[in-house]
Amino acid sequence: MKKVLVIGAKGMLGQEIVRVFGDTGNFEVMAWDRSNIDITDFQQVQNKIPAIKPAILINCAAYNNVDGAEVEADAAYLLNAKAVENLAKVCKFTGITFVHYSTDYVFSGRESAGYAEDAKPDPQSVYAKSKFAGEKAVQGVDGNFYLIRLSRLFGKPAESAKAKKSFVDIMLNLARTKSEIEVVDEEYASPTYATDLAKATLDILKFQSPFGIYHRTNDGACTWFEFAKEIFRQTNMQTKVIPVRADKFLRPAARPKFSKLISTKLPTLRPWSEALKAYLDQAIL
Ligand SMILES: NC(=O)c1ccc[n+]([C@@H]2O[C@H](COP(=O)([O-])OP(=O)(O)OC[C@H]3O[C@@H](n4cnc5c(N)ncnc54)[C@H](OP(=O)(O)O)[C@@H]3O)[C@@H](O)[C@H]2O)c1
Repeated sequence: MKKVLVIGAKGMLGQEIVRVFGDTGNFEVMAWDRSNIDITDFQQVQNKIPAIKPAILINCAAYNNVDGAEVEADAAYLLNAKAVENLAKVCKFTGITFVHYSTDYVFSGRESAGYAEDAKPDPQSVYAKSKFAGEKAVQGVDGNFYLIRLSRLFGKPAESAKAKKSFVDIMLNLARTKSEIEVVDEEYASPTYATDLAKATLDILKFQSPFGIYHRTNDGACTWFEFAKEIFRQTNMQTKVIPVRADKFLRPAARPKFSKLISTKLPTLRPWSEALKAYLDQAIL
């Protein structure tokens, strides 16, 4: 059985990776959260990872607070770039396949047609720049890596309390107390269901896809307003959704206007509204 080490195992994506890989029965899955390793501590990374010799390391840990990064740039770069470079190096020198995730926000968002894997990044916020620095570090180390970009992750809420909340859960929570919600009717991107992304990651490894960059989101794209409307339509909630412009809310970080990720290397995943239904069908509302 191949040994797989999952870091950030209590995050939204990490917990799905642990479940999906575990369910195959083909992997020995080691699920590490922050109590097992702090990836910003290079000594821990250098000592603990080679000691267990995994065949594959899947890094789901990240600094994900898009607005927070504008005032915590050092923390964002430490986790999204420096720690990632260290992981990539340890993987290269220990013969481990490294799987790492990045974001649609590495693109400027000026291309309404979307972005293929080889499009030129042009990040516009500190968070996006720190994630892009992580991408460049992984590519620079040049080991055996899969760099998978995604956008708008949703799924079972993360076990760890500080993990990022998904837009779906934020909307469902707001709807419990509000009859009307204003939502930005701009910023086209593709929602990504954590379960589908975990299975897509498994497929990339199982079919030994060539190392490199992949785009794995659900198919289609929407604004936040369209996403919210679909959430309430599928849950039969009467909450009124009011479309507003992006500048209605004061958000410190710039967001791309169009950041649909185009997959040219692999077939697209199922449409986002189907994936949303799959999540809502099993979520306790
Ligand atoms: N969420 C999105 O909408 C989105 C969009 C685009 C790309 N992505 C990317 O997708 C990947 C998965 O994101 P996610 O939303 O699943 O993340 P998440 O739910 O926020 O989970 C991140 C995990 O990383 C752990 N972590 C934080 N600092 C750590 C450290 N120093 N050492 C070890 N672990 C640490 C956290 O543990 P604690 O809770 O204990 O701190 C948490 O369990 C990330 O690369 C992210 O950038 C996400």
